[in-house]
Amino acid sequence: MRIDILTVLPELLTSPLGESIVKRAQNAGHAEIHIHNLRDYTDDRRRTTDDYPFGGEAGMVMKIEPVYRVIEKLKSERHYDEIIYTSPDGITYNQHEANRLSTLENIIILCGHYKGIDYRIREHLITREISIGDYVLTGGELAAAVIVDSVVRIIPGAIGDEESALTDCFQDNLLAPPVYTRPAEFNGWRVPDVLLSGNFAEIEKWKESQAYERTKALRPDLLEE
Ligand code: ADE
Repeated sequence: MRIDILTVLPELLTSPLGESIVKRAQNAGHAEIHIHNLRDYTDDRRRTTDDYPFGGEAGMVMKIEPVYRVIEKLKSERHYDEIIYTSPDGITYNQHEANRLSTLENIIILCGHYKGIDYRIREHLITREISIGDYVLTGGELAAAVIVDSVVRIIPGAIGDEESALTDCFQDNLLAPPVYTRPAEFNGWRVPDVLLSGNFAEIEKWKESQAYERTKALRPDLLEE
C-alpha cells in the first residue's frame, strides 16, 4: 500500500511514522509512506500556502494552487483509490474505516490547517473527509498520523503475529479481554486462575465472556450496532 501525505508541517509526521510497527512495515515493503511539503508547490518567494478569506472572517485559509498541483502530479503518476481530507467535520473515524482503508492500493491524505481550506478543494478533489473525534486539533497532521498508524498495522504481514491484529479491540465490535503477564501474583493481586489452568477451551470461553462483559459495561453502544 502507498500513502502520500500532503502537509505544511512535515516534521509533525516524520517521528510518529518512523517508529515501531509502521517503520517495520515500511522496511519490509508492506507500506510506502511519502510526505510532501505543500510549500514545495508554491511559486512565490515566501512559499505562501494560505491567504485571507473572502468575506472578511478571522483566520487564514489554505490556498488551492499548491494542493491542486501536488494532487494532479500524483494522480498523473498512478491511480488513487481515495483522497482524504482530515477535518473535524468529516465522518467519525473507526476500526471499520481503518479496515476498509487497509485494503486499498494508493491513498492521499491532505492535512487541513489554519481556519480550513478553500472549499473548492473539498468539492472537486477530495473523495473522503475524516474526523478522528469531536474535538479540534491545531492541524490535521496528528489526525493523519492516527489514520496511517491504525491502517498500516493491519496490512497483512505488518504485525508479526497476524492473529494479534484480528483480536484487537473493536475488530468484532467488542472490547478486548484483560491481559496479564508474570508474575502470577504481585502484592497479593492474583492473575485469574483460569489463565493458569492450561485448559485452552476454558481460557477461550473466559476471554469471550470478559470481552462481552467489558463491552456491556463500558461501551454498550457497540453491542447495539
Ligand atoms: N483537524 C482538526 N481537528 C481534527 C479532528 N478532530 N479530526 C481530524 N482532523 C482534524
